[in-house]
Amino acid sequence: MTTPLLEITDLQKKFPIKKSWLQPQSYVHAVDGVSLTVREGETVGIVGESGCGKSTFGRCVLRLLEPTGGEVKFQGENYLKLPRRAMHSIRRNMQMVFQNPYDTLNPKLSISRILAEPLIAHGIPRDQHRQMMEEIIEIVGLTPAHLARYPHEFSGGQRQRIGIARALMLKPKLIVADEPVSALDVSIQSQILNLLTELQEKFSLSYLFISHDLSVVEHISDRVAVMYLGEIVELADKNSLFADPKHPYTQALLSSVLSTDPDASRERIRLTGELPSPANPPKGCKFHTRCHACMEICKTEKPALKKLEDGTMTACHLY
Ligand SMILES: Nc1ncnc2c1ncn2[C@@H]1O[C@H](COP(=O)(O)OP(=O)(O)OP(=O)(O)O)[C@@H](O)[C@H]1O
Ligand SMILES: [Mg+2]
Repeated sequence: MTTPLLEITDLQKKFPIKKSWLQPQSYVHAVDGVSLTVREGETVGIVGESGCGKSTFGRCVLRLLEPTGGEVKFQGENYLKLPRRAMHSIRRNMQMVFQNPYDTLNPKLSISRILAEPLIAHGIPRDQHRQMMEEIIEIVGLTPAHLARYPHEFSGGQRQRIGIARALMLKPKLIVADEPVSALDVSIQSQILNLLTELQEKFSLSYLFISHDLSVVEHISDRVAVMYLGEIVELADKNSLFADPKHPYTQALLSSVLSTDPDASRERIRLTGELPSPANPPKGCKFHTRCHACMEICKTEKPALKKLEDGTMTACHLY
């Protein structure tokens, strides 16, 4: 088997919480031992409720946040061990697209200046910049005339095209997209998703695609990882995950979407209660406090992520 493009093993991120100096230091365990691979040209979707650690995971993968444990290998090399300055050349291959491009596009800079920044940072000779920018701006569905304009002159969908263009300038192999369409109207969402799919084919890109929206993840992913309180509870091929979810949490998430379909034969499973705090997660299976299938063992023993016959990985004592 060929080496996966990205191989993440037991990734951890703890944030210290400041309490009074008398109490022991405690932590928010935002990413709690996530292992995942992404193959070349593949899209892996990451879903889960707000606060389950999706963004922290994505940022740790790109080392925009420093993980507190684990390994991330890009083309076989664990770059968490490299000194930070050595990340520069690796980062060229891995870029991020954010939810709200307006927050990340400097309003004082023209689009050409914004797109030139990664080229300058990576020492691309200036005489090549114009041609590279014109090529990419057209690929994302804008025109070279747009390069002289400023971020406020664009619609939300166009701004996200600019955010994508910036990520593409150095022809990366992997894009971590964190809720890239969540701030957009539904009609614009599908245009951007289609653009991402076209770009994937054109450049053999791999995506780690983070979203709380199941229909968006279903549209774009090859495989889907479901996160709960910093852990992956189910990882499966897109089609099997949506047709036959195994983990009670995945079943509940899907059920909340399917409930609008009058023909849905599946029984509605309600997700009750709040997401527990990741600073003080439940013992045993972290999901047991909200699980419709909770058994005694779930309250004390943490289930391992194991492979079922159909290839689905799930962390649940039912299997
Ligand atoms: N810099 C930080 N310091 C302390 N805690 C943090 C920090 N960043 C995130 N957290 C905590 O880590 C947990 C995971 O947050 P994260 O933003 O990764 O979740 P998310 O799944 O992306 O949520 P959303 O869907 O709302 O974007 C949350 O409990 C959050 O409060
Ligand atoms: Mg987030």
